[in-house]
Amino acid sequence: MTIRRYPPISPKLPHLIHGGDYNPDQWRHAPDVLEEDMRLMKLAGCNAMTVGVFAWAALEPQEGAFDFGWLDETLDRLHRNGAFAVLATPSGGKPAWMSEAYPEIRQMTAGGVREPHGMRHNHCRTSHIYREKCRIINTELARRYADHPALLIWHVSNEYRGHDCHCPLCHEAFRTWLNDRYENDLDALNRAWYTSFWGHTYSDWSQIRPLNPWNHGLMLDWERFKTDQTIDFFRAEIEPLREFTPDIPVTTNFMGLEKTLDHWRFAPEVDVISWGSYPAYHDRPESWLRAVRTSLEHNLNRSFQRKPYLMMECSPGTQNWMDVNKLKRPGLHVVEAVQAIAHGSDSVQFFQWRKNQGSFEKLHGAAVDHCGSENTRVFREVADVGSILASLDDIVGTTTPSEVAILIDWENWWALDSSSGPRTERKDYIDTCAAHYRPFWSAGVSCDVVNEESDLSGFKLVIAPMLYMVRPGFADRVEAFVRGGGTFVTTYLSGIVDETDLCFLGGFPGPLREILGIWAEEIDVLYDDESVPVRAAADNTAGLTGTYTASVFCDLIHAETAQVLATYGGEFYAGRPAATANAIGAGRALYIASRNDTRFLGDLYRQLMDNLELSRALRCDLPDGVTAQVRTDGERTFVFVLGFHREAVRIELGSATYCDLLTGDAVAGSIDLPPYSVRILEAT
Ligand code: GLA
Ligand code: ZN
Repeated sequence: MTIRRYPPISPKLPHLIHGGDYNPDQWRHAPDVLEEDMRLMKLAGCNAMTVGVFAWAALEPQEGAFDFGWLDETLDRLHRNGAFAVLATPSGGKPAWMSEAYPEIRQMTAGGVREPHGMRHNHCRTSHIYREKCRIINTELARRYADHPALLIWHVSNEYRGHDCHCPLCHEAFRTWLNDRYENDLDALNRAWYTSFWGHTYSDWSQIRPLNPWNHGLMLDWERFKTDQTIDFFRAEIEPLREFTPDIPVTTNFMGLEKTLDHWRFAPEVDVISWGSYPAYHDRPESWLRAVRTSLEHNLNRSFQRKPYLMMECSPGTQNWMDVNKLKRPGLHVVEAVQAIAHGSDSVQFFQWRKNQGSFEKLHGAAVDHCGSENTRVFREVADVGSILASLDDIVGTTTPSEVAILIDWENWWALDSSSGPRTERKDYIDTCAAHYRPFWSAGVSCDVVNEESDLSGFKLVIAPMLYMVRPGFADRVEAFVRGGGTFVTTYLSGIVDETDLCFLGGFPGPLREILGIWAEEIDVLYDDESVPVRAAADNTAGLTGTYTASVFCDLIHAETAQVLATYGGEFYAGRPAATANAIGAGRALYIASRNDTRFLGDLYRQLMDNLELSRALRCDLPDGVTAQVRTDGERTFVFVLGFHREAVRIELGSATYCDLLTGDAVAGSIDLPPYSVRILEAT
């Protein structure tokens, strides 16, 4: 990542963005509420509101009959109040008249049943009728508001996912997509999918239906197709926006680690990345681990385009859609908000502004509760965020440099989870990636996220947990990276299948075998209540000491050219290598053969942080539940100390000195951090 200051997302608003989903379409019968909203938004320091996300029925109450009056007034009112609109296109929720007039726009289940009207996000992405209806409404919106001074950003649709639609149009589009991918060669497809198994061979393209989970290659391509079809739909949706408003940035709100859509493929399509963050903090001793994963998701969103992005949604209070929707503890909304900024977001936006009076989300947290006043704990916290962001203009456009990359790859995730065996449950791909990230979070070492297509140069350390699928070209890039001095770490269950889910012949981990200097002969799996000791090898240089505990997965490997760092201490494989390091060129490639306890990853990565001299946000150890992250423009360095802990802690700063950006006070020696609190410091 180039260290520089990026321009603000929109030149119209050279500040951090603060605001939330705003649904004036639900309050058209109550003009006093709409006026009151403006007063309250000012109090909360909101400068941009997301409008119209599910407003199609209000904008086009009957086919071809539009009603923009309420939206005109909303944009005018926002503008009069010095605020902007993040204006949505409404395809996330279709009007009832449309579902009724054009049944083909409704998704079809695998059983061939059309979904009834209702819910949301359940349109068919292939339907030409739905695409045409989107084109019409988006053209009306774009033409009408092109020159409106309040128009800041386009928020296209809502939370795209790779939904399954099994309608005839989607199946036909899938077959066309396959035809393209396999260059009209059905034999090539049969070979790639290994359809000779159970006699699943196709003799005609028309026989192909994505309804056979026993064929992994087929289902993997179905996942890929769904992402491509979603992108195709998105491209059609934004055509009118590009035509009438070429200078207005386009985004859509991503969903963090949502499995059904390959966000890496989608990311280049938008002008700015945005996403919604909804961790479940339950105020238990280990709740802070949720923050580790949220930070990883922020890193992912920053890494998609390697520049500032937007946190388009978070809940200022509670959620309503989890089993247990606990209140956010006092201070936590501010910490989550500053966490987003710390990782590279140039906004804190939330869902939602005012609680709905009825329906499914009526109990979801919002800045303004049903009582309607500013005298609530949640409103005060939202307003606190507003005033903090207002004093952080210097942060806008700054960058977060990282020397470490964690690999999270959607295709790998799909393939890994679809495989039958070696254990059906407890693969926990994303949790495993978060476990590898945790020591860096705790040490205040920044990490980017990459996938198998990413450029690895510029990193000192690349970590690819459970790299089950290795696609063509990746192993070569890893080799060049390691030979050039990089350190590569991977784990059990890596290098098993290629891009069509065929196992590598000639020894696992397939194309990574020589780089890692090991052969993974077989893999044992453990029941939940079983474990195997892992003993640090004497004189290992990896920082490992004593005995660790392995659970769930134990790869039985042979060190070919690699050096052994640890060995199993039990089972019939006692004495066999459990962790190795292979020196090639100027770098090293490490293999962790088993799923080990937290201490193992902590020891290993702390040693690597020291050996590789990775830069830390603060030169000191941080207590559990606390992290520190950096943003910089190359000249000024801002350190965000984020506390997700429940008991007050003191952090010793050593000899470094800082200025507190919020108070202007000089800071040296140590800082006291109350539970759920933050400090924003500039290095002096
Ligand atoms: C998502 C959606 C919003 C809302 C929230 C509730 O982020 O985009 O429309 O449903 O969830 O948490
Ligand atoms: Zn369909």
